Amino acid sequence: MGNIFKKLGIGLVVGGALILVGHWQELPIPFQVLFFIVALIGAIVFILLDAQPIGTMSGGKSLFAVIAFWILLVTVCVAGASLLPQFDPEDERAKIDKLLGKERAASQKGKAEELIARAKALDEQVKVLEERLKGLGSGQSVATAPTPSAGEKPAAAAGTGVGDFMKVGEEQWQLQECYNCHKLRGEGGKKRGPELDNIGSLLTVEEIQQKIYDPKSFMAEGYEKEYQKGIMPNKFKDLMEPKEMQALAAWLGTFKNTSVNTPKPIKKS
Ligand code: HEC
Repeated sequence: MGNIFKKLGIGLVVGGALILVGHWQELPIPFQVLFFIVALIGAIVFILLDAQPIGTMSGGKSLFAVIAFWILLVTVCVAGASLLPQFDPEDERAKIDKLLGKERAASQKGKAEELIARAKALDEQVKVLEERLKGLGSGQSVATAPTPSAGEKPAAAAGTGVGDFMKVGEEQWQLQECYNCHKLRGEGGKKRGPELDNIGSLLTVEEIQQKIYDPKSFMAEGYEKEYQKGIMPNKFKDLMEPKEMQALAAWLGTFKNTSVNTPKPIKKS
């Protein structure tokens, strides 16, 4: 009996020490408990090693003893294991869903919004192209449209010749919707920005480019008397490739119709 208490005592002390170490190492509580249990199991094993040998059994009695011992072991193992913290994948899934649910919903909403925005942008582009086709139909832009005359290379070589460069410029005028504010060749406007038909006489191509790149760099002289100044959007440098902006400026530079009263741009910065 003394032997049992002594070994149980040692087991408790070792288990307590293990809990302290686990606590100090900031291990989760279930691990600390597990260490304690292992220490106690160790103590039990040592107690059993020193236990009095039981009397020899035979026949049905021995069979009964083996089965009873087996049932006891299985019961202890199952009961003990079920007391320990269980890992339940469904539980973990629920937790993860809870954590990620909000973000997932947000990102799905974001995706939908992005798709809508893209669809809108495409729709705008289609409208612009339709406008341009109408223009071509009425003979407006025919002069700059590629003429598939004999011997000429097909449009696949676009972007090489001067004519193609000018075409890119005119395209940008339509795509960037400069016509929303500026009248050119008698088209567009709404009187928000000046008519640009004489801009080529007032600014060099580089200066026009600078105005588009940074609309605050030049300001139309006296424009504020009649209209609002400084509303030209500062976004084209983000929307156009440098090449495209260059082409647009070069194309605008060809407009030198002195009968149109384009206000004089004054350099600001
Ligand atoms: C929201 C209206 C608006 C849009 C869009 C706009 N502009 Fe302007 N732009 C103005 C206004 C207003 C002025 C005159 C006041 C100023 O200089 O800021 C101006 C001035 C200019 C000038 C100088 C004209 C002068 O006589 O001083 C040029 C060149 C010009 N814009 C080119 C463009 C080009 C090219 C685009 C398209 C890429 C464009 N603008 C788009 C409103 C606009």
